[in-house]
Amino acid sequence: MSDSPPVPASTVVLVSGGSRGLGLAIVTDLLDAGLTVAAFARTVTPELEKLADAYPDRVHVGAVDVTDLAAAQRFLRAVEARFGPVDGLVNNAAVGQDSMHTHTATADIARIVETNLTAPLQLTRLVARRMLGQGRRGRIVNVTSICAQRGFPGLVAYSATKGGMDAATRSLARELGGRMLVNAVAPGFFASEMSAVLGSTQLDQIVRRTPTGHLTEPAEVVPVVRMLLCAHTNINGQVIVVDGAASI
Ligand SMILES: NC(=O)c1ccc[n+]([C@@H]2O[C@H](COP(=O)([O-])OP(=O)(O)OC[C@H]3O[C@@H](n4cnc5c(N)ncnc54)[C@H](OP(=O)(O)O)[C@@H]3O)[C@@H](O)[C@H]2O)c1
Repeated sequence: MSDSPPVPASTVVLVSGGSRGLGLAIVTDLLDAGLTVAAFARTVTPELEKLADAYPDRVHVGAVDVTDLAAAQRFLRAVEARFGPVDGLVNNAAVGQDSMHTHTATADIARIVETNLTAPLQLTRLVARRMLGQGRRGRIVNVTSICAQRGFPGLVAYSATKGGMDAATRSLARELGGRMLVNAVAPGFFASEMSAVLGSTQLDQIVRRTPTGHLTEPAEVVPVVRMLLCAHTNINGQVIVVDGAASI
């Protein structure tokens, strides 16, 4: 029988893409739960500034492009200097897509892959190395998408990146041998700047196919993210779908 101790709950969490949409909802929820949060995006929105003002001792925000590894590293060092070691990471930042694959420019494919797959892999490596170096046992949550498991037209490169992160979640969980819990949350479609490209016909179709009768809401995803960061569980290497059974 294994006597390895449980991986402790996160107290300092780094959230990429925390400026709006689901990322902002995650930051707000973690702060409500009493955690300390570091959040970045390319642009710090007034909403994120407001949270930084409301919780001056528990929020660190910055304008960082997740594809700029050196900038991400500087941000992480600043967070550690202020709050101590980071013990939770939420890879949430991503860009969407709205183009048939045959009409998607090479540069756009590269940008989607760089932002949604290469950058979170690098950020994860950066954070995990520091956690391991500091002898800390942490939690990693990757925000992926139902698009990784079900096909959607206009989202080929995007879906490929999300499927890549699902696969990385499983392999990293095995590789880390229980020193960290690594999981993914795969939401169904929810209203945000990213999904604003979907037309009302597509949205109506998704709702019709959803047994719970509505699009997923960020408020229905954040408790799962918090649970994976904070709860005493043995959930590891899993992709948890939150889509009202639309994909079943
Ligand atoms: N909306 C949906 O229907 C849906 C469904 C399933 C999964 N998801 C996933 O949920 C997550 C959040 O999506 P959302 O709908 O909330 O999107 P969103 O409203 O467009 O927010 C995306 C966030 O990522 C940031 N971001 C984008 N590119 C970045 C970069 N290069 N560097 C740093 N930050 C960057 C954005 O800020 P800046 O632009 O200022 O950088 C923003 O904070 C994503 O991983 C997405 O794939 C969304």
